[in-house]
Amino acid sequence: MKGRRFYDCDLSEKLLYTAFLLLMGLGYLMALTYLYISHQGHDGEPGLSIHDIAETYYGNRSGTQLEAALRGPMAGYINPEERTIIVAWLKSGANEPEFESSVKPIIDRQCLMCHSTEAAKQFGNTPALDSFENVHKVAAVDTGLSLLTLVKLSHIHLLGIGLVLLGIGFIFCLVELRPMVKYTLILAPFIAIVADIMAWFLTKWDPVYAYTVVTSGALLGVAMAAQILISLYQIWFLKEK
Ligand code: HEC
Repeated sequence: MKGRRFYDCDLSEKLLYTAFLLLMGLGYLMALTYLYISHQGHDGEPGLSIHDIAETYYGNRSGTQLEAALRGPMAGYINPEERTIIVAWLKSGANEPEFESSVKPIIDRQCLMCHSTEAAKQFGNTPALDSFENVHKVAAVDTGLSLLTLVKLSHIHLLGIGLVLLGIGFIFCLVELRPMVKYTLILAPFIAIVADIMAWFLTKWDPVYAYTVVTSGALLGVAMAAQILISLYQIWFLKEK
């Protein structure tokens, strides 16, 4: 075996690598937690499913953003009877007279503390719901995350994860492993992240690609975990033959 191995490193280098790998592992777990919290329940069922992923990108084209919110993340702020009233209003064409008489009182009472114009400005991503015009904006068909949002998320993920993979992979180069396994583990997460992000856009077009999002996301996680765990193990336990 050519090249440096972890047993050639002095203690300060081992400590640096260990701290970095643990930090990246923690960051990855946080990302998974955020993913779970922000995607679960989109389809109205508790827990994270393939439907939640599909709806995030493709949207729920049989319903509106408002209905999706009332069945998903906002479900806790409204009781089922009131929700039925709002959904019936949406299905019957979301017109103004009926809004004023039956929907506005519910929204004023249940939602405005977080969805007034001031609150909307303060939170940034919450829609204002204090007039017919504003509510009408979220009463349009839900087509999932906008292309602009996807492009924004893509560039952050590609650049950020690229650098993380460079850091982890740089350390992983010092492990002692059969070369083919090592090459595969080094390349796999790069391929996975590109496939994952392409699949976001494809899912916007056809929800079946939600399976690609999940598969490539899982591959990324497994490859990163393997690099981190094998490195950590060899840093502290591999002895020179
Ligand atoms: C305690 C504060 C709070 C209350 C009460 C609340 N919301 Fe929200 N709402 C938020 C926040 C924060 C967001 C943005 C973050 C998110 O999407 O989870 C949001 C997002 C939304 C969205 C946009 C969802 C999307 O697709 O991006 C809609 C629509 C919505 N709320 C409707 C309602 C309705 C209708 C009610 C009343 C039944 C309500 N909310 C009550 C805090 C609240």
